[in-house]
Amino acid sequence: MTLLEIRDITVEFPQPRSFVDMLTRTPRPALRAVDHVDLSVERGEILGVVGESGCGKSTLARAIVGLVEPVGGEVLYDGTPLTFDRHSNRRRIQMVFQDPASSLNPSMTIGSMLAELIAYHHLRPPEQVQDRCEELMDLVNLPRRYLAYRPMRLSGGQRQRIGIARALALEPDLLIADESVAALDVSVQASILNLLLDLRDDLDLTIILISHDLAVVRNVCDHVAVMYLGNIVESGPTAELFSSPAHPYTTALLAAAPSFDGSRPPGNARLEGEPPSPLARPSGCPFNPRCPLADDECRTVMPPLAISDGRLVACHKPFASSRQGARTAGPPTGE
Ligand SMILES: Nc1ncnc2c1ncn2[C@@H]1O[C@H](COP(=O)(O)OP(=O)(O)O)[C@@H](O)[C@H]1O
Ligand SMILES: [Mg+2]
Repeated sequence: MTLLEIRDITVEFPQPRSFVDMLTRTPRPALRAVDHVDLSVERGEILGVVGESGCGKSTLARAIVGLVEPVGGEVLYDGTPLTFDRHSNRRRIQMVFQDPASSLNPSMTIGSMLAELIAYHHLRPPEQVQDRCEELMDLVNLPRRYLAYRPMRLSGGQRQRIGIARALALEPDLLIADESVAALDVSVQASILNLLLDLRDDLDLTIILISHDLAVVRNVCDHVAVMYLGNIVESGPTAELFSSPAHPYTTALLAAAPSFDGSRPPGNARLEGEPPSPLARPSGCPFNPRCPLADDECRTVMPPLAISDGRLVACHKPFASSRQGARTAGPPTGE
């Protein structure tokens, strides 16, 4: 069953105008961070959203939780539109950020921070608040005595658990973890990802896991959506997407990931350079300047996201990058 449906969401950030632009009355340019994105999230699944930095992952998440207002499209939660101004359902969607410490009040104990949150939202009668705080610590596998600690006494991984506890305090159905493990050591990353898996099972949570790192989503996510320059370029079941990527960008991301020995996808595409700025969007397929398979059609016609062999992919040559390998298609352009 679908819990969250994102329909044709577009988010733009107006850019400052130069003095000359003002004099010549050039319209204010807008940076399109999320470009007509459709995505649905099934109840109880863990959906990975991956892509290089700047491709619009956080902006999409912020649009879902209502921190930025989309210029177009809608988000349906459990079949009901989430409106920007009426946040009745918003508590059911919580976000965990990369560095929760920066948003934790350093002078407050963890217990008082959680208690305040629970009281503010009237989630428990006053006499049950302390029990609930202890329950939250149990849920994130931290000792209850940490409730008396201030955040700075804890390690990065422990603070991330507090960030998760704080999100869980609001009893969400959907948790959006935005680069939640990016700043942590690999072993600590694994323990936090395992915690998310347990929480999904124990609390029936639905999770959107955002990461620039494919290795992070690989073992945890049921489905993966790959973003590039504000667009979803491919999405599908994790195992299938990893074993036979349909989009050359996915192929290149996989090839660039260091930890896939033994299960490297076919092809040796490398990811050269950086994604272009959304302000200088290439015509045609947004990936064409970096794509080893790009031809005239790719440079002029934007491929729609369409089903190909059970995968959603926006490419004129789906699966070509993993079937034949990028080797045969010449070196990437712009090298
Ligand atoms: N508040 C903002 N104002 C202006 N531009 C922004 C803002 N937030 C993000 N952007 C731009 O939107 C694009 C997508 O950014 P972001 O969603 O943070 O990507 P990601 O999370 O994938 O790294 C980038 O070009 C970024 O510079
Ligand atoms: Mg981000």
